[in-house]
Amino acid sequence: MTELETQLLETQKQVQEALATVTNESELEECRAKFLGRKGLLPALMSQLGKVPKEEKPAVGKTLNAVKNSVQEAFDACAAKIKESKEEQEALDISLPARHHAIGHKHPISLVMDRAVAIFRSMGFIVADGPDLENVWNNFDALNAPQDHPSRTPEDTFYFDLDKRHWLDPETMILRTQTSPVQIRSMKAQQPPVRIVCPGRCYRRDTPDATHGMSFHQIEGLYVDENVSLADLKGTLAVFSREMFGPNTKIRFRPHFFPFTEPSVECDASCIVCGGTGCRVCKGSGWIEIAGAGMVNPAVFKNVGYDTEKVSGFAFGLGIERIAMIRYSINDLRLLYDNDVRFLHQF
Ligand code: PHE
Repeated sequence: MTELETQLLETQKQVQEALATVTNESELEECRAKFLGRKGLLPALMSQLGKVPKEEKPAVGKTLNAVKNSVQEAFDACAAKIKESKEEQEALDISLPARHHAIGHKHPISLVMDRAVAIFRSMGFIVADGPDLENVWNNFDALNAPQDHPSRTPEDTFYFDLDKRHWLDPETMILRTQTSPVQIRSMKAQQPPVRIVCPGRCYRRDTPDATHGMSFHQIEGLYVDENVSLADLKGTLAVFSREMFGPNTKIRFRPHFFPFTEPSVECDASCIVCGGTGCRVCKGSGWIEIAGAGMVNPAVFKNVGYDTEKVSGFAFGLGIERIAMIRYSINDLRLLYDNDVRFLHQF
């Protein structure tokens, strides 16, 4: 290799190194002047081609052309890079005020549901889950509902496939009318002790009015172990009521009937609006019904294969809409589902 070729390749290397550090147009121009300008390094080397001996000329000329092209390409690439980053910077105007995003907030039903779940979790309950689309066995039969129970008729419950199946067929699918089938699912999936709560949506063919909807929410509770008593149920619901409605809240049980509990009760909490003296919210009684509950009927234990001699348990079902209406003084349940942001904004 001739001295000139070595110098050419060395210069090419220098160009690449110099361009690698260039970040803006003026640095690029400086570089261009140094290597390509009238008094630049490359033109100086090129002018020496004339002095190269004739027989070496073709080879040196070829190297010279290759170096020239590669240097030109390197400058073009560097110029393109600078242009691109300049455009990027201009597109990003950091002086613009930020766009405001309304992130929204939780629906009052979700707020009450989350609070209820948190209270029961603090007492050692674990959250269980079941599908909205349930079969008749889990929703009725396993829960000891007699075949002629009025809630089983297609007038009261949403059935699927009634053209193919009878509504008393245990495999017919329905929209669950209560969260109680999750009791069955949980007990079939594990041996006692069981201590679960299940928050979820339920469906009934009710005509919507101020206190009824076709769909509503419950939170189901189930505790099965050795020696569980009605006093445990009362203690659990008393703690829940004090946490949910305030430390002075009292509860009372009234006898009731559910096929899957025996004895069965309805649980009232003292009215949080008047404190028990009687007002419009509690219709003058001083009490507000918050749950259905009772001791698990041995017939239900038999249906899931539990030993009725060994275990006992309690179950309860709380109405979430009811609790939300009391907590937030809402007098019409339909307000919760109209999705009017002016209403929902308040919680
Ligand atoms: N499932 C009952 C209802 O929807 C409530 C309930 C749950 C009652 C658990 C007793 C035990 O009315």
